[in-house]
Amino acid sequence: RIVYLNGEFLPLAEARIPIMDRGFLFADGIYEVSAVLDGRLVDNEAHLARLDRSLGEIDIRNPHTTKEWIGLQTDLIARNGLEEGLVYMQVTRGVAERDFAYPSADTTPTVMMFTQGKRIAANPLAETGAKVVTVPDLRWKRRDIKSVALLAQVLAKQQAAAAGVAEAWMVEDGAVTEGSSSTAFIVTASGVLVTRPLSTALLPGITRKAVLRLAEEADLTIEERLFSVEEACAATEAFYTSASAFVMPVVALDGKVIGDGSPGPLTRRLRAHYLALAR
Ligand code: PDD
Repeated sequence: RIVYLNGEFLPLAEARIPIMDRGFLFADGIYEVSAVLDGRLVDNEAHLARLDRSLGEIDIRNPHTTKEWIGLQTDLIARNGLEEGLVYMQVTRGVAERDFAYPSADTTPTVMMFTQGKRIAANPLAETGAKVVTVPDLRWKRRDIKSVALLAQVLAKQQAAAAGVAEAWMVEDGAVTEGSSSTAFIVTASGVLVTRPLSTALLPGITRKAVLRLAEEADLTIEERLFSVEEACAATEAFYTSASAFVMPVVALDGKVIGDGSPGPLTRRLRAHYLALAR
């Protein structure tokens, strides 16, 4: 596998980061993930805009223009012959002597990218639907920044893995914030699509935005509001969205069956619409 590191394309095993990299020491950096379908990037400019925003929020200058980023991503996809999967991008504040406050302004950010082959459109789990467990949301208060500090999500996803399910939905003050690496949606008995409104409490999902636009075009009623675990368990449908899952039906939450235990009709429609858009 060929990866990108600080201006070079090189084999994965040869890509090395100094131990004083602030990403390694402090998780002082941000990342992005764009999907690749049929060899093409999906909704990528929105991901690059969020990358730019995340960097701005922590005062790291964006090392590349959008055009440069796209050039690097496209090159990496071609070098790896990637047809379906993900492009991971990470920028850290760079290498400096360990000290909490920012190093001198001339410190060069570390830029890294790699690809991962993954079945996203052709994911068999989307046919049967995913099971989800809820976990406490242990994260910090700026979840709108796509920070590489992901320990709470690692713990959440491990709880999901230990329970034999695909995803964990994180809960704060009784309300679902989002999935450990996805945005949470439910459909109420009256057919209303519900997802949490954007704030610093969650990541502004790129797939979330696209799906809300599709729902609007389909004249669905949308409510951006908080919802509880109880309401989610009583929902007729549920799903989660992300670059790595697109629209993933949820068929059980904390062991309680959602709807009839198979992917709901509205969820299926939104997934099909999203796939059509992505292609
Ligand atoms: N995760 N919420 C969280 C906490 C996430 O980590 C992600 C994405 C999302 C969905 O965002 P988007 O639709 O823009 O992918 C929501 C990526 C895929 C990851 O960490 O691998």
